Amino acid sequence: MLSLVTSIFGVLAAVPLVSAVPPSNVLMKDVVIVGGGAAGAYAAVRLRDDFGKRIALIEKQDILGGMVDSYVDPKTGIPYNYGVMSFLEAGNATGFFQRFGVAIGPTSSVSVTTNYIDFETGELVDFQLPPMADQMAAMANFLRIVEPWEHLTQPSYSNFPTPDAIPEDLLLTFGEFITKYGLEDAVPLMFQTTGLGLGNMTEETTLFVLQGFGASMARAFLGKQGQFAVASGRNQDLYDAIGKHLAGDVFYSSTVVDSQRTDFGVTLTVQNHKTNETTRIHARRLLLAIEPTAANMAPFDLDSDEQTILSKFTYTNEYTGLVNNAAFATNQSYFNLPATAAPSNYLALPNPSFTARIDYIGGDNLFRVTIIGNDTLDSAGAKRLVQEEFNTLLQAGRLTTTSDGEPLNWVAFSAHGPMHARVSVADVKDGFLQKLYALQGGRSTWWTGGAFSVNFQTILWEFDEILFPELLQGLN
Ligand SMILES: Cc1cc2nc3c(=O)[nH]c(=O)nc-3n(C[C@H](O)[C@H](O)[C@H](O)COP(=O)(O)OP(=O)(O)OC[C@H]3O[C@@H](n4cnc5c(N)ncnc54)[C@H](O)[C@@H]3O)c2cc1C
Ligand SMILES: *[C@@H]1O[C@H](CO)[C@@H](O)[C@H](O)[C@H]1NC(C)=O
Ligand SMILES: *[C@@H]1O[C@H](CO)[C@@H](O)[C@H](O)[C@H]1NC(C)=O
Ligand SMILES: *[C@@H]1O[C@H](CO)[C@@H](O)[C@H](O)[C@H]1NC(C)=O
Ligand SMILES: *[C@@H]1O[C@H](CO)[C@@H](O)[C@H](O)[C@H]1NC(C)=O
Ligand SMILES: *[C@@H]1O[C@H](CO)[C@@H](O)[C@H](O)[C@H]1NC(C)=O
Repeated sequence: MLSLVTSIFGVLAAVPLVSAVPPSNVLMKDVVIVGGGAAGAYAAVRLRDDFGKRIALIEKQDILGGMVDSYVDPKTGIPYNYGVMSFLEAGNATGFFQRFGVAIGPTSSVSVTTNYIDFETGELVDFQLPPMADQMAAMANFLRIVEPWEHLTQPSYSNFPTPDAIPEDLLLTFGEFITKYGLEDAVPLMFQTTGLGLGNMTEETTLFVLQGFGASMARAFLGKQGQFAVASGRNQDLYDAIGKHLAGDVFYSSTVVDSQRTDFGVTLTVQNHKTNETTRIHARRLLLAIEPTAANMAPFDLDSDEQTILSKFTYTNEYTGLVNNAAFATNQSYFNLPATAAPSNYLALPNPSFTARIDYIGGDNLFRVTIIGNDTLDSAGAKRLVQEEFNTLLQAGRLTTTSDGEPLNWVAFSAHGPMHARVSVADVKDGFLQKLYALQGGRSTWWTGGAFSVNFQTILWEFDEILFPELLQGLN
């Protein structure tokens, strides 16, 4: 009896006690990628299939694609996009769709009538858009001014000038910049498409507004740069095809719970939140393709340099969803502007948190809702905000019924969370962007995604392309 106990302890003692929860699997990889959205999924494909590396891709959701949200109406089977609407032609973007056999086509939209309303009061805003010719003329002027700076920030900040050589205009607030060049007539198109992601665009720094609406979007409006969507109407098809192709190299519903990062490689403990199963992954390189927020970075044991730099970022929080209450009228779009925007004050924009717009998209009375939150707005807060605004619109008689206390009927909801990472002018002048890029490669860690580049899918793919040669150096 005694000898049996001794031998059990003998066996146990031979197992190194590295973790309280022993992982069920141990894997050796060349590159482990965290985040399976635009930047991460693209990198996984290229690094594995075209550079022949052993990879693992860690994704917290149960699908790839991040901000690409598609909903399929269960009654009709018709798909609707409510996250990413279109892909800009950039680099070999169309080739990337081709390799997965995903057919592309023009972006589609439904014809709607826009109602401008102050969502805080429910009052109509008598807002007049400039004539289309004036909007396009202002857009062309805008492009002429900003295009020479494009290479400073896109697809990467690696050409960004040292503090003494930063073009002054990039550090103005966007309101000052627009006024300086008389570009007011271009603002409605900027704000109503992608600019709204920054919140009150007028008070944000021009440099970062141009990352949300810059030369590429201006070219797209002027017909000088192509854009496309997935032909099926379901943009998620691309990322589903990537997921199928990468198969067992993707860890879904998983996050990193512990890590060690050194100059010689990384070890990550990855946990699946559905099964609780853990996997230990040893890799020679780590590619982080998630927003570098404090919450996301907690398991990565940041050093004080990384901590100091990344904690300077501020974000807006974005949420999108679909609602189908009959109170919303078919073929209408409800757009939120402050009363001061009337009749043609194009620089008057709402402050976060706000619902930017509620747009008819078709189907069974489906309306897409776009919410721009401040630093702290979470999903529950976003839904509460839209409910309050819905009550206000109902009470003010802006919708087809005036019922009180009607709950919004969410048929889909997606938390995009922190986006449009930016820092203060003082930080930019203090060489923030150079310090940010100096993090690349430290402790075998590389960084991609919106905060390190720009918030467009295909431009992030180009940013990844720039990283590959450096990340792959010394791996063979
Ligand atoms: C409403 C909306 C509409 C947009 N429309 C367009 C458009 O029409 N065209 C366009 O080009 N761009 C569009 N964008 C912007 C574009 O989608 C983003 O710039 C792009 O997705 C950013 O890519 P990313 O890889 O940095 O992040 P994401 O694509 O968000 O990918 C990050 C991934 O990491 C996962 N993740 C997050 N945290 C963790 C964690 N801790 N551990 C593991 N996984 C994690 C997420 O689930 C996600 O899959 C839109 C964005 C929004 C919000
Ligand atoms: C573009 O992508 C296609 C499909 O993957 C590929 O065959 C082609 O070689 C690529 N072209 C360039 C210039 O990289
Ligand atoms: C995973 O762990 C949590 C917390 O310990 C527990 O509540 C849950 O039941 C576990 N799930 C499974 C599938 O084991
Ligand atoms: C948006 O920012 C501008 C510039 O700072 C400011 O004048 C305006 O009042 C802000 N909008 C709101 C609704 O506060
Ligand atoms: C952020 O937005 C929410 C919702 O509108 C609001 O309740 C909160 O006070 C805001 N926080 C800050 C710091 O402005
Ligand atoms: C209303 O929307 C539908 C799509 O659901 C579209 O087919 C139709 O043309 C639109 N009607 C008008 C008057 O614009």
